[in-house]
Amino acid sequence: MKLTDSVALITGAASGIGKACAQRFLEEGATVVACDIDGAGLEQLAAETIQSSLHTAHCDVTKRADAEASVQQAISLGGRLDCLVNSAGITPRTLPPEADFEERWDAVMEVNAKGVFLMSYAALAVMRPAGRGAIVNLVSIMGMVGYPTSLPFSDGFTAYPHSKGAVVQMTREMGVRFGAEGVRINAVAPGFVYSPLTENVVGNPEVHAEMKRLHPMGRMGQPEEIAAVVAFLASDDASFVTASVWPVDGGYTAQ
Ligand SMILES: NC(=O)c1ccc[n+]([C@@H]2O[C@H](COP(=O)([O-])OP(=O)(O)OC[C@H]3O[C@@H](n4cnc5c(N)ncnc54)[C@H](O)[C@@H]3O)[C@@H](O)[C@H]2O)c1
Repeated sequence: MKLTDSVALITGAASGIGKACAQRFLEEGATVVACDIDGAGLEQLAAETIQSSLHTAHCDVTKRADAEASVQQAISLGGRLDCLVNSAGITPRTLPPEADFEERWDAVMEVNAKGVFLMSYAALAVMRPAGRGAIVNLVSIMGMVGYPTSLPFSDGFTAYPHSKGAVVQMTREMGVRFGAEGVRINAVAPGFVYSPLTENVVGNPEVHAEMKRLHPMGRMGQPEEIAAVVAFLASDDASFVTASVWPVDGGYTAQ
């Protein structure tokens, strides 16, 4: 198995892609600390998984103390942290309708960009002295190209693509900086994927059809198809891969 004897910390693990990553990492032999702010979702994951190698932690990635505590929880299990997967994320649609444009921008940047920064900072504090580790960031095709005007998701001011672009650049900057110390840092950029994040938009048949049409493969992705590439990048099979961004998008960004 790819991740036997690895200790992995996965944020946003109560739902969607992060949950699929937790399940895939367990299948690959890892010990997993699944972090989220959604306690009920973590309980559900634990109930569905029933594996002694799964541990859960309440962690708000926007809080430095939470980031540090969840890294320490992972360390307490096996004395080291081999992988961090940064999957926690929100869109402006997560916020209440009364939030104004500045509140939306701040909140999305806080979770999607600062959250990755704080978690990576805490993880690197233990990975660098160990001379070993892998970080995989969940970015998005929208961190690489602009939103298509045929979709009603952006007025040009939406923070989602801004935040994902910031993490693309964190991946390159940290990847280049820490590669020689044995820590690999990569990103996966999914196309549109079925998860609670996209549930309300795929509920609109016209928007759903357009979302599928925009991918050359003619469909959206499943969380498990993203988790497979995350597991590869976290494993020693990707030992010469760092500072890179991997589209997992059915061909979307090749057009
Ligand atoms: N679903 C897609 O189409 C898609 C496409 C590209 C990229 N992504 C990215 O993949 C990642 C996972 O998305 P998903 O589809 O699984 O979404 P999701 O909504 O299903 O899961 C996101 C999880 O993050 C958690 N979370 C939110 N704020 C948090 C915080 N402050 N601290 C800790 N946890 C927090 C939520 O509770 C939730 O469990 C996100 O970063 C998202 O931007 C998703």
